[in-house]
Amino acid sequence: MIKYLGSKKRLLPVLGEIFSRSGAKTALDLFTGTTRVAQEFKKRGGVVTAVDLSRYSKMFADCWIATDSRAVNVKELDDAIRHLSSLQGQTGYFTETFCLKSRFFQPKNGAKVDAIREVIESDYKNSTLYPILLTSLILAADRVDSTTGIQMAYVKSWSERSFNDLELRIPELLPGSGTAIQGDALSLTESLGEFDLAYLDPPYNQHRYFSNYHIWETLVAWDKPDHYGIACKRIDTRADSTKSRFNEKANMASALRKVIQEIKASTIVISYNDESWVTSDELMEMCSHFEDARLLAFDSKRYVGAQIGIFNPKGKKVGAISHLRNQEWVLVAGNRNLVSEITEEEIGASLAR
Ligand SMILES: C[S@@+](CC[C@H](N)C(=O)[O-])C[C@H]1O[C@@H](n2cnc3c(N)ncnc32)[C@H](O)[C@@H]1O
Repeated sequence: MIKYLGSKKRLLPVLGEIFSRSGAKTALDLFTGTTRVAQEFKKRGGVVTAVDLSRYSKMFADCWIATDSRAVNVKELDDAIRHLSSLQGQTGYFTETFCLKSRFFQPKNGAKVDAIREVIESDYKNSTLYPILLTSLILAADRVDSTTGIQMAYVKSWSERSFNDLELRIPELLPGSGTAIQGDALSLTESLGEFDLAYLDPPYNQHRYFSNYHIWETLVAWDKPDHYGIACKRIDTRADSTKSRFNEKANMASALRKVIQEIKASTIVISYNDESWVTSDELMEMCSHFEDARLLAFDSKRYVGAQIGIFNPKGKKVGAISHLRNQEWVLVAGNRNLVSEITEEEIGASLAR
């Protein structure tokens, strides 16, 4: 999995457990990012629809959510990875832009990316392997990058991992069906249909994923765009069409409210935290059309295994709480009995490492 801001890696067991306790068969992951939460639901038997604004998330979702591993020709995939791995590096747009004009990758790896990406486009564009190969390439590039995890800047001296050779691996695919959609949650939600459970993990601040991960956007689009600044960001980073209301302080709350209102799901699960723009009271209020809502709070440093409080709809705490800062929140709203069943048994305790 790529390094990703706000990724729910450590909260995954909690979210998975919530999904299982809810008894859901279908799920929506509306801000899917790396798709790791959608993958967790799929692993637990869910038929998942994964949505995100970004191109790379769509590619990940095509690979991990929409692809049924049982339908993949393993030999063909193996051969493709072998063939791509054997290609000689060839300096092109990627090397020039991200290794010479900027220093996100060592040129030897940039040249491999260029060669592999060209052949993925020319030989596999219409193949069901396309998203799997492209995902494999992004993961490989991420393992040898020279950043601190975002692509707004590269580190001054080459990171240690950037000296390693780029290596393609076969992503671990999952059995089952699912759907991958690229688009803006704000305009899409109403038309997505009905789900047993919807999971929402919107951005928490003004930092845009489009600019933070512009290299993955470019690698997927392969449109070799004009760029600007020392990070060589895509020129369309400036375009309104690539901006999200969820990154705008003045619009975030109303955008979230609209999406929550429009979602057709019996249970809704929202990730948020206590250092962002929407308060817990506002979040609860946004879910007031559900029979019940509970806010689970997790210590953000310890994260899992550290559930520190459960709050009822009036914001009154149920159970003990040790402190009020740096919390990751997981709000669960829906049918009263189900919300109780999901939240009343300690979730964190069973996850302590
Ligand atoms: C906090 S991250 C989600 C992380 C994800 N749960 C994971 O574990 O990888 C927020 C995601 O929202 C996406 N996003 C931002 N604005 C959006 C919008 N208007 N519609 C859909 N997705 C959006 C971003 O591209 C980003 O992937």
